[in-house]
Amino acid sequence: MDWGMKNRLSRIIKPKDGRTVMLAVDHGYFMGPTSGLEHLDGMVNPLLPYTDTLMLTRGALRNYISPTVDVPIVLRVSGGTSIIGPKLLHEGTVVSIEDAIRLNASGVAYSILVGAEFERDTILGMTQYIDEAERYGIPVLAVTAVGKEMKRDARYMSLASRIAAELGAHIVKTYYIPGFEKVIESCPVPVVIAGGKKQPEDEALQMAYDAIHAGAIGVDMGRNIFQSSNPVNMIKAVNAIVHKNATPKEAFEVFKGTKK
Ligand code: 5RP
Repeated sequence: MDWGMKNRLSRIIKPKDGRTVMLAVDHGYFMGPTSGLEHLDGMVNPLLPYTDTLMLTRGALRNYISPTVDVPIVLRVSGGTSIIGPKLLHEGTVVSIEDAIRLNASGVAYSILVGAEFERDTILGMTQYIDEAERYGIPVLAVTAVGKEMKRDARYMSLASRIAAELGAHIVKTYYIPGFEKVIESCPVPVVIAGGKKQPEDEALQMAYDAIHAGAIGVDMGRNIFQSSNPVNMIKAVNAIVHKNATPKEAFEVFKGTKK
């Protein structure tokens, strides 16, 4: 692994503890104006001081985020479907590696949909992108999307995560499920969890805690932060769990503002 790749990875995964709090706001690429992100800049800017890495689309980056930010970017580079289309998540490449480099991305994110009838397209799309990214030392975060018809269990997440890692992804983003340890022990690259649909803050914090203690290196969380009743306190609480080894109870106190 060359110096550049290692340096970019160290921007995404913090060397001090090998962990990361990634703020995911890329939802617009298939969901449009997601609740909470209608004014993406207004939502994101107050969260940046507590964000290790920002995951978003090139359009969001260009139109909502100041080029003066010093938060590393993981750029969403797969897409091509929408929530109202016939084949949600049948994705392909939507950003060239050259444009990702031009936008100074520290990493790129590409979704695969293992188990779908079109799984091959998404998996080949990711691996072709990995080949291009490797040429420039850009790490690839594989997103193991989960279709509605798929069973979100440890067997499925282990399968999808391992496939992504075997094909060359440098980091895997998947979903926390009971038996998550199985996913971690069978995946040879770092794993972060997506937050998934909005849930009560204490439950989301418990999930983050459980994922970290099962071996995840962090979170790539979106809706559970930006749709929270207090997004700033929520990302602070997530930080407490990821970087300060807070308990879910302590983190919930941070969310409520009753604990520094
Ligand atoms: C959507 C994505 C999101 O980045 C990912 O799901 C994280 O966001 P959330 O915590 O809201 O699930 O890849 O396809």
